[in-house]
Amino acid sequence: MKHGLIIALTGSLAFSIAALANPGDPIEQRQELMKNTREALKPLMGMRKGEIPFDAATVGDSLATFADAAEHFGALFPEGSETGHDTEAKSTIWSDRAGFDEKLEDFGTTVAAVQASSPGSLDELNASLKDILGTCKGCHDGYRVDKD
Ligand code: HEC
Repeated sequence: MKHGLIIALTGSLAFSIAALANPGDPIEQRQELMKNTREALKPLMGMRKGEIPFDAATVGDSLATFADAAEHFGALFPEGSETGHDTEAKSTIWSDRAGFDEKLEDFGTTVAAVQASSPGSLDELNASLKDILGTCKGCHDGYRVDKD
């Protein structure tokens, strides 16, 4: 009985290690980039709400994370990655690739413009955040499955 439990636990551990040891999977990689953007967004939202003080260095780090996502995201939608890993990617990415690329471009250029302006105050951050969030939504609306 005890032995069986240990085997079961070892089995599931080996399974999760196998999943982690597969960094080449494009679906996991693109989800990882999006999770990074979500994490990078958190401190910015905290500043906006006045929960944490404005900090230009943190803002710079978050913008760099967005820029990294914008740069690498587009290559992670090869044919054959339409399904699996609970992907929320909509089939429109493949049927309307030009439209998707345009939304990705909007995101990248908006982030680059904010980086160039390097927000130095909460007011400047708030104005830039609005633009960036608009580009997240702009893409999610047409190319990410709405689970709700
Ligand atoms: C060019 C399109 C595009 C842009 C721009 C974009 N996203 Fe996404 N996002 C997606 C797609 C597609 C998925 C689904 C990926 C998958 O599951 O394969 C996704 C998924 C996510 C997820 C879920 C990740 C997970 O698997 O848990 C989060 C969180 C997210 N996006 C946040 C953001 C934020 C924040 C921004 C802006 C700062 C942003 N996204 C900009 C297309 C985009």
